[in-house]
Amino acid sequence: MLSSENPASGSGDQGSGHGMWSSRMAFILAATGSAVGLGNIWRFPYVTAENGGGAFVLIYLVCILAIGLPLLMSEILVGRAGRHSPINSLRLLAERSQRTWRWMFVGVLGALIGWMILSFYSMVAGWTLAYGWHYLGEIFASSTEALDPQGKFEGLLASPGALIFWLTAFVSLSVGVVALGVEKGLERAVRILMPMLFALLLLMVGYGIASGFFQQTISYLFTPDFSKVDGGTILEAMGQAFFSLSLGMTGIMAYGAYVPRNVNIGRTAGVIALADTGVAVLAGMAIFPIVFAHGLSTGEGPGLIFVTLPYAFNDMAFGTLFGFAFFLLLAVAAWTSAISLMEPAVAYLSETKRFTRVSASITVGVATWVLALGSVFSMNIWSEYTFAGRNFQELIEYISSNLLLPLGGLATGVFVGWALSRVIAREQLSELSDTQYQVWRFLLRYVGPVLVFVVFLSAAGVI
Ligand code: PFF
Repeated sequence: MLSSENPASGSGDQGSGHGMWSSRMAFILAATGSAVGLGNIWRFPYVTAENGGGAFVLIYLVCILAIGLPLLMSEILVGRAGRHSPINSLRLLAERSQRTWRWMFVGVLGALIGWMILSFYSMVAGWTLAYGWHYLGEIFASSTEALDPQGKFEGLLASPGALIFWLTAFVSLSVGVVALGVEKGLERAVRILMPMLFALLLLMVGYGIASGFFQQTISYLFTPDFSKVDGGTILEAMGQAFFSLSLGMTGIMAYGAYVPRNVNIGRTAGVIALADTGVAVLAGMAIFPIVFAHGLSTGEGPGLIFVTLPYAFNDMAFGTLFGFAFFLLLAVAAWTSAISLMEPAVAYLSETKRFTRVSASITVGVATWVLALGSVFSMNIWSEYTFAGRNFQELIEYISSNLLLPLGGLATGVFVGWALSRVIAREQLSELSDTQYQVWRFLLRYVGPVLVFVVFLSAAGVI
């Protein structure tokens, strides 16, 4: 499992003195822990709803396959070939490929995007903690009054104090794990808790099936209506694909540095992408029956799951117990993702020698907390301050997720597809057959960059 030491320099491999995932399974768990999080359960349903359903989901799936999977493999391979923090791995591999060291700025961009995402991500993770806490209280309350979903959510957002409290709790938990390098404990927890979250989602889907609105949900999610699609929709779908797979900000690259030699990168990336997509689709199938059954608006925005799920928990037998379990497990899923959002910056700062792992984690945590205050206040006292129709939190989310993640991914793809020595790439992907390798390379060199480019132009209204 991951140790807290920095990757040592040199060819970098097992036994070279730095931490290593103990097995392929350990890496799959860590990477899936990074991929599966609020992006699947909180963001996927609400972004799908804002973009009209079916066609959005289809475009999202195409993005996962055509751009996401090849990039996921690329990030892992850069990490494993470089064996350093993303910034230094990129620099080392560029130099080894006789290219400019400036490729390291892809890593700098990645660390910055991670910081931006982590800010609003931690706030939302704080909401899940607040809901978990609420349901915990309900379990022990003598008289249980059904929760007023809308009122509860609005009440929470209106209170900067409560938001800051839960934000601080979540950031501290994340800093704690990253600083102490106790990922081992987390890995064990993930092994048990992630399947539990999955099972709970399945149960919610079962509840949806019983609600009588499942058919409507399936056609909402899977019947494409392309009249609703424009450049902006595709940009959202692409951004969501990057967000969900943790791509474009070098988080997976950071984890790749600890991947043992004998891991088959192609197959492993496939497993991670499948698990991630499965959880997102299940979340959609769990949430929308509730939305339809209660005549709620699909345009609820970021509050969607926080407003809809309590309706279901109000109606279910043992609803408070399920509500508690659900939000707690979701917070854990967010936690394992937050750690990977911090890792690129922390790994880099630790390598500079001016920081220990502990001081690097605290520095990143404090910087995140400060930026997150902007998101907190945009829910209440700053809600009127908008730019281009977006408040501070929406702006940070839009810039980081929809614009910078695809750009960061594009840069990584161009690096691996065009700049990195072919010998290094082929060696890392030695398990692929020649045809598979050619397909991967083609998707990476041409399909990804062209798609990202065209989508940007079209969203900007140029084409
Ligand atoms: N993939 C995570 C999620 O879906 O919740 C969020 C995330 C984690 C995005 C790590 C980016 C990242 F590098």
